Amino acid sequence: MKGIVFTEFLEMVEAKFGLEVVDSIIEKSDLPSEGIYTSVGTYSFNEMVSLITHLSDEVKAPMGDLIYAFGLYLFNGLGKSHPEVIVNYNNPIDLLYAIEDHIHVHVKKLYPDAELPKFKILEKTDSSISMIYSSSRGLYRLAHGLIEKTFEHFNGKAKITFELLKEDGTEVKFDIIQNG
Ligand code: HEM
Repeated sequence: MKGIVFTEFLEMVEAKFGLEVVDSIIEKSDLPSEGIYTSVGTYSFNEMVSLITHLSDEVKAPMGDLIYAFGLYLFNGLGKSHPEVIVNYNNPIDLLYAIEDHIHVHVKKLYPDAELPKFKILEKTDSSISMIYSSSRGLYRLAHGLIEKTFEHFNGKAKITFELLKEDGTEVKFDIIQNG
């Protein structure tokens, strides 16, 4: 997993829960990186799992809720670091439609060893989109937060529902209907 994801994650933890919590989860996680990340570096996904597990313990919140909150936070972080990747879109549905074939393709050029999820589009209209997320990392709640924020980015709103096609969350269907 790319360092930019870790630096954004720790930034969110600091903003929401304070520096003591950042220090505490880094210490408890016993990380090969020792919690020192550069945005272009690549680190084991296990480090993220460990950090989120300890955060969940420490702040007594479910992992899924924390991952979702991180998705909300991460959208702005990625957008600020790489504005050129999203500047060409003028509505949320078109942006979501383009993740697989344009946005993440561009990301792969910026970070050749990025491990990206797949999004298979099932159906798209001007105000709705259905797609299947798949990734061995099962970060579908991260996708949920990123999707939610995509609408906010364009001052829009949407009803987002999802259904686990595989119990471990490695394949999840999203139904997204714009309603504002
Ligand atoms: C500004 C636009 C975007 C940029 C620059 C971007 C970039 C990235 C990067 C760098 C990663 C980390 C890959 C790694 O650690 O190896 C990532 C992962 C991910 N991206 Fe994007 N992304 C963008 C938009 C989106 C949007 C709108 C979604 C909405 C669903 C999305 C869904 C995900 C998910 C769920 C992951 C986690 C990896 C996984 O689930 O396997 N991304 N993206």
